[in-house]
Amino acid sequence: MGLMKKYLAVLGRLYKISLAELEAVFGSVKEISPCLAEFQARSETPQIQRFGGSLKFAEKLEETPLEFLKNLPEGKITLGVSDYSRGASARRALSEALKLKKILARQGRSVRVIPNKEAILSTATSHHNQIAEKKNHVELIKVGKEFYRVIGVQNISEYAKRDQARPARDARVGMLPPKLAQILLNLNGELSAGARILDPFCGTGVVLQEAMLSGYRILGSDLSEKMVEYSKRNLDWLVSREGFLGAIDGRLTKEEKSSIIERYNDACFVAGDAREVDWRGVLDEGKIDAVAAEVFLGSPMSKSPAEIKLREEKENCRAIILGFLKNLSGQVEAGTPVTLAIPAWLRGTGEYSRLNILDEIEKLGYNLVKFKSASQRDLLYFREGQIVAREIISLRKK
Ligand SMILES: C[S@@+](CC[C@H](N)C(=O)[O-])C[C@H]1O[C@@H](n2cnc3c(N)ncnc32)[C@H](O)[C@@H]1O
Repeated sequence: MGLMKKYLAVLGRLYKISLAELEAVFGSVKEISPCLAEFQARSETPQIQRFGGSLKFAEKLEETPLEFLKNLPEGKITLGVSDYSRGASARRALSEALKLKKILARQGRSVRVIPNKEAILSTATSHHNQIAEKKNHVELIKVGKEFYRVIGVQNISEYAKRDQARPARDARVGMLPPKLAQILLNLNGELSAGARILDPFCGTGVVLQEAMLSGYRILGSDLSEKMVEYSKRNLDWLVSREGFLGAIDGRLTKEEKSSIIERYNDACFVAGDAREVDWRGVLDEGKIDAVAAEVFLGSPMSKSPAEIKLREEKENCRAIILGFLKNLSGQVEAGTPVTLAIPAWLRGTGEYSRLNILDEIEKLGYNLVKFKSASQRDLLYFREGQIVAREIISLRKK
């Protein structure tokens, strides 16, 4: 076990869900402000590309910002400052950067400053300036008197590529954002590399894709044969030269790439109703180590459903989810994590109506995981005005 190191995470719109994601993987997380959290990790640097809920990761500076910058390798420095201190402004953040530039210039080092539109540099700005990719490209985060150095920035263009460029898409099934798929996987806690992840409602395969990119083995099933084919086709694309792996060729090491291909060759699929499938029978060896899925969410909707329609939808979804969990319970070991996105519906009142099936789920032999950093009410994912939202439930087999 390596030493524990302190990190800072910059969180976005989903910050409560993002806190739970960090807590699940790193054991605990401390909220500093609604968009900043501290966590500790062993010496291996946490990989931002696996965390759907975090926009940036940063490391505390042991030395002053000036000393840190002076010690960078020779060559031009690109410098940006994001200021989270009380009363921060674009002007103050920029003047901090310019002040450092001036001192460094006197010592013969040339610095390009990233201009601040706001006190905080956006993820897009940090990404485009290749912060955390190039040694001399630095973003400092200032929180009061403390300084942190950004070590990872969410890769917006990669998300877009693997979200929008997939060949097999289905408007009726809808698309789970890859970030949310990563969050579902991470809420299962730290799993070993090569753990077998089951998605029994795999649809077009977003969870399977993200699981594979995170180094897990996968087992996908869906009621619809067509959907199983779509998942396979999308994964074929993912590893192809024309697909995602081709597009990010430069970023992955040879080992990372071959491990993804290995997982791909080892992927298992079966078509069937999640209330009946024998998943263990599909696996030649090994067991199901964790489950991550966006379950059946009912009919797509563009306006809030009438009471009668809502009751019908709820009953339908409830039967499928409970039937699935009942079937699963005999096929996984005690302690197996199961994280699901289940539906909730926007009412005319502006509130979301939830399924409220947690008691029944407990009776089927699962415990609900309670996070310190977020309550169950916080674990609701939706875009502004979206009728069918997703409630996240993280369970452990008793
Ligand atoms: C909301 S979609 C999941 C989409 C998926 N996350 C993706 O990446 O495309 C739900 C899926 O559940 C499947 N489904 C519906 N009823 C099912 C059942 N009883 N058993 C298994 N799958 C079912 C549908 O065919 C659909 O593909």
